[in-house]
Amino acid sequence: MESFKIKKICCIGAGYVGGPTMAVIAEKCPHLKVTVVDINEERIDEWNSSDLENMPIFEPGLKEIISKVRGKNLFFSTQIAKEIKESDMVFISVNTPTKTEGFGAGYAIDLKWVESSARQVAKYAQGHTIVVEKSTLPVKTAEVIKEILLNSIKNKNCKDYDKTFSILSNPEFLAEGTAIQNLQNPDRVLIGGEDQESINYLKEIYMNWVKSTKILTTNLWSSELSKLTANAFLAQRISSINSISAICEVTGAEVGEVSKAVGFDSRIGSEFLSAGPGFGGSCFKKDILNLVYLAKFYRLNEIADYWEQVIKLNNWQNRRISQLIVEKLFGTVSLKKIVILGFSFKANTNDTRESPAISIVNDLLENGAEIKIHDPKVKSKQIMKDLNLSFNTKEKRKEFGSWDYVSDVYKALENADAAVIVTEWPEYKKLDWLKISEIMRNPAWLFDTRSITEPSAIKETSINYWSVGNGSLE
Ligand code: NAD
Ligand code: UGA
Repeated sequence: MESFKIKKICCIGAGYVGGPTMAVIAEKCPHLKVTVVDINEERIDEWNSSDLENMPIFEPGLKEIISKVRGKNLFFSTQIAKEIKESDMVFISVNTPTKTEGFGAGYAIDLKWVESSARQVAKYAQGHTIVVEKSTLPVKTAEVIKEILLNSIKNKNCKDYDKTFSILSNPEFLAEGTAIQNLQNPDRVLIGGEDQESINYLKEIYMNWVKSTKILTTNLWSSELSKLTANAFLAQRISSINSISAICEVTGAEVGEVSKAVGFDSRIGSEFLSAGPGFGGSCFKKDILNLVYLAKFYRLNEIADYWEQVIKLNNWQNRRISQLIVEKLFGTVSLKKIVILGFSFKANTNDTRESPAISIVNDLLENGAEIKIHDPKVKSKQIMKDLNLSFNTKEKRKEFGSWDYVSDVYKALENADAAVIVTEWPEYKKLDWLKISEIMRNPAWLFDTRSITEPSAIKETSINYWSVGNGSLE
């Protein structure tokens, strides 16, 4: 390994993590050639599109970085074998969803994509290759990857007699919507591994922009478990404040005031204490389910129950919102026009995975509502996929409601019975509710599941108002 130097990096998986993470590495390390590969040709084409508005991911600040480094030291490609062959370090950043069938279905992670990535690396790598787990993985996954890689060397037909590997865990902590900020100025970088030399190679890359005091090194299993634990703790805080939001609504306490008072305690801190429609996103639920699975596997049933409760509370919070909407609209939403403001799982992203909007809309459709959906960044094609329904569903199923995609909020609200703020997009904070009250059908309702509207602005109108953690305005 004496002459070994990191010159080329390959990242398998051009998704929400692979794309932005490699863009920032390329920006901060102009001496490295970084290539992101994917089996999804359409996605790679979008990353290579000359129209930066057409990139597969919307993330503030990403466009600017891509325009600086793409074609210089950052590349997107489908030539997986070639890129692995030429690389000294390979990141695995592929999807790790919850298994939907077979053993562990509903809890365990489906490692199919990680395994196929490891097999590709085993087959095509040459010389020494450092393999870095970037995906969030169950504890002990590095063992699986190691076995696949080492078996490829043991294979007597293997011509690359100098082929060697080492494996590191380097989980990603970025949050969508603030990914670039998080990558450029991370709270910490975590590297787990057994081989100090390889750890140092990865550490050197990060040290191009991250202080060494923020780079933590641990053993492989602590690193893998820390990632699951961090997500579980964050999600737990949301379920905790959401449970308090329901108590606020029946007691007259205001959840914003409670969050603030609680968060002022330096031991608790103010982040992740906003009540809402329940957490969405591709990771919190699957990572907690994975933790539950791990606990059950080791027969730690009380621990499994403890973490599962975070998800149960989240489902409850999500469900109670659609029930409440129906209840407030005189017990029926059949043929009522309801405008959904926001479909992404949080603001500043076009990602809709596990978005609370999906189940709220589905519940309302089942109750016969006529839904209009607005989102500044989510395309109608994506919504159609998520709802698994085409437009004007009513025509196909008699009792079922219908839905439509709208680009003009004010127009959509004409004659509407209710507006529901599901995502906290900044533009929804600026809506003119006095003007809106004149165009909605009375009695009109605003359901604010993010508590972003100023109650005093609604008080001046004829609109009835309910917000999470505050209840209805008297
Ligand atoms: P994603 O679905 O957006 O992207 C994964 C990509 O991997 C897809 O484009 C898919 O086509 C590709 N892929 C799968 N198998 C492949 C193979 N064998 N060869 C080449 N490409 C392959 O997923 P994501 O949101 O980027 O998440 C990736 C991982 O990072 C997950 O483990 C997730 O838990 C973790 N993570 C996600 C976030 C987030 O905010 N999304 C944050 C931190 C960690
Ligand atoms: C989360 C973590 O914050 C990241 O650190 C982690 O890397 C990532 O998961 C992952 O592993 O995928 P992300 O899901 O992108 O990031 O976004 P968050 O900001 O955590 O929001 C998740 C959900 O919780 C959203 O639906 C959001 O609206 C909700 N939320 C967040 C609240 O309801 N209240 C809050 O106070 C904060």
